[in-house]
Amino acid sequence: MERTFAIIKPDAFAAGHAGKILSRIYEEGFTVVGLKKLYLSKIEAEGFYDVHRNRPFFGELTDFMSSGPCIVMVLQAEGAIKKWRDLMGATNPAEAAEGTLRRQFGSSVGENATHGSDAPETAAFEIGYFFSGLELL
Ligand code: GTP
Ligand code: MG
Repeated sequence: MERTFAIIKPDAFAAGHAGKILSRIYEEGFTVVGLKKLYLSKIEAEGFYDVHRNRPFFGELTDFMSSGPCIVMVLQAEGAIKKWRDLMGATNPAEAAEGTLRRQFGSSVGENATHGSDAPETAAFEIGYFFSGLELL
């Protein structure tokens, strides 16, 4: 069964939305294979978002991701990667469809409540960045 990597970002965690987001994850039929709370350093956030290093928003993005605790997760389901991205909605909460997590909990394109892997290769990198095999049994 497919696995994807997800984050409840610092904005959503600080606002107390982690419980509601987790409820939604279970309701939609994902299995939570791994979960932990982390407070990323700037360096750790930069390593995670290395593909965006040359984007103009890289500094802002990694400052935000290291601004407070977040929850990192490995979610499992049939077609988990697309299923989770569909549940999150568009990157910009203002463009995200009704009923999506970013529409409900995001406040701007930067502070958009959740992250999800966009392909099998990125899911493999992102899961391995935060979890060891022993944590995903
Ligand atoms: P992720 O699931 O977080 O990877 O989002 P995404 O795949 O929908 O978007 P993308 O990979 O293009 O961008 C990664 C993250 O960078 C987004 O989730 C945003 O948090 C952030 N981001 C994207 N565009 C901007 C921007 O213009 N300004 C700022 N501050 N952040 C941005
Ligand atoms: Mg992305």
